[in-house]
Amino acid sequence: MLTETISPDLFRAALSHWASGVTVVTTRDAAGQSHGFTASAFSSVSLDPALVLVCLDNKANCFDAFDQSEGFVIHLLAQGQQELAGRFASKGADKFAGTGVTLSAAGQPVLPGALARLECRTERRIPGGDHLILIGEVHDAHEGEGEPLVYFQRGFHELTAVGQG
Ligand SMILES: Cc1cc2nc3c(=O)[nH]c(=O)nc-3n(C[C@H](O)[C@H](O)[C@H](O)COP(=O)(O)O)c2cc1C
Repeated sequence: MLTETISPDLFRAALSHWASGVTVVTTRDAAGQSHGFTASAFSSVSLDPALVLVCLDNKANCFDAFDQSEGFVIHLLAQGQQELAGRFASKGADKFAGTGVTLSAAGQPVLPGALARLECRTERRIPGGDHLILIGEVHDAHEGEGEPLVYFQRGFHELTAVGQG
């Protein structure tokens, strides 16, 4: 039986070689306060029903808001939105100040300028180690314009095409 565990540094270093998009995930609590965090731990899960997931650190300030929320919005960030990604990855201060945030029909915070956004009902929450896996059923989606913001080796990058898939 394998009982070894990997060091957090090695785990992080190995994962830094994985390129991903960047999302900002938002929700509103019962008191009407908006919350959000930057997340690269995002994936589609199922086509029918339309399910996606995002993983949230148990220690995040916004944890309770997402743990109790009935829904959330996942914004897929566009090239040029690295300042927004940095802002929603930081603690304190009002992250939404000056962002032009509006509310969706479902009453969730929507940020302008994303490449796409997925409006979700919270379908399930699954504990996953030191993170909470939020599974959302996508009830509405909107597409924007532009190219994706890419996260790779702890930095933001732009996508370059090398040929047709
Ligand atoms: C590119 C990037 C990706 C991140 N991905 C995640 C993620 O998938 N899940 C997560 O919980 N935190 C992630 N973080 C860290 C959170 O955005 C950050 O800890 C945030 O401040 C948490 O929100 P809080 O202010 O409510 O604590 C990421 C940060 C960056 C810069």
